[in-house]
Amino acid sequence: MRGEAQPGHLPVSQPPAAHVPVLYTQVLEGLQVIENGIYLDGTFGRGGHARGVLDQLGPGGRLLLMDKDPEAITVAEQAFGPDPRVSIRRGSFAALAGWDQAVALDGILFDLGVSSPQLDVAERGFSFGKDGPLDMRMDPEAGQSAAEWLAQASEREIADVLWTYGEERQSRRIARTIVARRAEQPLLRTAQLAELIASVMPRGGDKIHPATRSFQAIRIHINRELADLETGLDASLAALKPGGRLAVISFHSLEDRIVKQFMNRHAKAPPSNRRLPEAQAFVPALQLIGGAIKAESAELAGNPRARSAVLRVAQKLGTNAGDTLQGSAA
Ligand SMILES: C[S@@+](CC[C@H](N)C(=O)[O-])C[C@H]1O[C@@H](n2cnc3c(N)ncnc32)[C@H](O)[C@@H]1O
Repeated sequence: MRGEAQPGHLPVSQPPAAHVPVLYTQVLEGLQVIENGIYLDGTFGRGGHARGVLDQLGPGGRLLLMDKDPEAITVAEQAFGPDPRVSIRRGSFAALAGWDQAVALDGILFDLGVSSPQLDVAERGFSFGKDGPLDMRMDPEAGQSAAEWLAQASEREIADVLWTYGEERQSRRIARTIVARRAEQPLLRTAQLAELIASVMPRGGDKIHPATRSFQAIRIHINRELADLETGLDASLAALKPGGRLAVISFHSLEDRIVKQFMNRHAKAPPSNRRLPEAQAFVPALQLIGGAIKAESAELAGNPRARSAVLRVAQKLGTNAGDTLQGSAA
């Protein structure tokens, strides 16, 4: 965590790329914004959802914004900074517990993964379709780039990452090829890596680019995405006030499994044997609000990113929460 954002500290990539927020209406319905409530958007991106929350807040409301990406924070400072209801902090939502303003919140949103500008700007190095430096860091000033990691990771480590985070069946073969190639020439560009992966994949059958799963896996590893999500979910439960709502949008099954299991763990007694003492002593901390929410056809037609999006919403239980519960799942 780097403390408060510095306006203008980093230039925004040119030309500015747009990001269309997914499941916008469903997120706002799920959060049930209270006029004078305090909300956190832990994944500001380009602020589509944040703008929707802010529009529903009255003069006494507060909106806290976070993002790992300094370009997102620069946009947040420019677009939202002058509003006295808004506070902005650069860093991972996994470090939310260290922000003294992030307490007794009425709602939290995590819209996971990468934004369109991150994917569309070749220099960020996220895209196999656009040649750029092999970076993939949401925060380019923190940790190793993908190129640095691929230069020193063992063959076994690379294969494990591709398998675990990308479910890539050719993980071993790709890892072996990467290690052989890097002995001759460093892997520094996204196009180099994409071509290398494509060259060793079996032909046909797959509708997606052969490097899709590997790029996803390396990105998740480089940004510690799943570890951050687990820590961020725990921190969000502590930061919400009773009656406060948590809304999380996932973009692949690994993320959604973590979110679903987290919410179920805090909402339902352990299913194995409900007569066991620990099951009987279980006091739910969350109530599920509906199930998995997906985009409708009209949204899918206009925004292909929405295809894999899954929204889950839960409400914190506790003193005084009973009065505010609405629309809960069976
Ligand atoms: C899908 S975009 C969010 C888009 C946003 N809801 C909007 O409407 O513009 C995801 C954003 O979350 C950020 N991000 C991902 N993981 C993060 C984390 N652990 N902590 C903070 N920001 C994160 C990324 O840098 C990216 O800007």
